[in-house]
Amino acid sequence: MTQTRIGIDAGGTLVKVAYHDKEKIKYQTFSSHKMGDVVSWLYNCFDNPKICVTGGKSQVLANDLDSHVKSIVEFDATCRGVEFLAKHHNLSLGSDFILANIGTGTSIHYIKDGEQQRIGGTGVGGGTLLGLSYLLTKKRSFNEIVQDMMEGNRESVDLKVKDIFEGTVPPISGDLTASNFGKMNGYIQEEPSIPDILASINGLIGETVVTICCQAAHRFNTQSVVYIGSTFRSNPLLKRIIEDYTQLRERKPFFLEDGEFSGAVGALLSLD
Ligand SMILES: Nc1ncnc2c1ncn2[C@@H]1O[C@H](COP(=O)(O)OP(=O)(O)OP(=O)(O)O)[C@@H](O)[C@H]1O
Ligand SMILES: [Mg+2]
Repeated sequence: MTQTRIGIDAGGTLVKVAYHDKEKIKYQTFSSHKMGDVVSWLYNCFDNPKICVTGGKSQVLANDLDSHVKSIVEFDATCRGVEFLAKHHNLSLGSDFILANIGTGTSIHYIKDGEQQRIGGTGVGGGTLLGLSYLLTKKRSFNEIVQDMMEGNRESVDLKVKDIFEGTVPPISGDLTASNFGKMNGYIQEEPSIPDILASINGLIGETVVTICCQAAHRFNTQSVVYIGSTFRSNPLLKRIIEDYTQLRERKPFFLEDGEFSGAVGALLSLD
């Protein structure tokens, strides 16, 4: 009997698992704060599997497992997983592109001919979405946050360029955000609703990441920006903000199906 191969990306917030089941790759997600759940699931579902781990919390998981596990560098695993998933879903990314992994924080890479180079990042990411949402609305559940923000209107929170340039034509598009959360300072009297605040937090994250990625794309002279990470889960609003803003900055955005499992898939592939 062949051993089941399992790739695990244990990140700052979520543990992503990719494993072979017959001809298919299957996925599973756990909270990084409940590593015991990952261990019990592995013991209950598999008999002596071959495991490769990656990600910032991979050592915590490896220590909790009795058996020996292989470990690989997260950025290489992610890059390998991205290339594999793009091919798998018939998505042509071209020979070079910027890759943004919007996880707990955001890591930004330049990928050329399958080789990755980490070129920067920002602490503004999915952890910021959860953190600011909690501080401003007391909501803790990611699913509730992304659900509620769908009803939100950023116009009551964010200041646009056209709000500043009154009675004159602005030098840049009036629809651009001049200041995220900027309307709170004397521009409106009424309190924004909870969905408005949540939608604006999402906007802050999306626009910050796009700004950095498009500057990187310019620096590396590439047209494409690929976005992955669990922050996109059930979050079509973030995808839309990022898609529109990347296009406005004259770059081509790509979203990878199952992209949040790139690191886990890369780890899995390294066992072949
Ligand atoms: N069920 C969930 N519980 C908590 N956060 C979730 C959930 N689903 C999606 N998210 C979002 O995904 C983000 C984590 O994304 P991801 O799994 O890509 O990061 P990570 O790998 O854990 O972190 P990092 O790579 O920075 O170490 C969270 O910060 C949150 O915004
Ligand atoms: Mg990660």
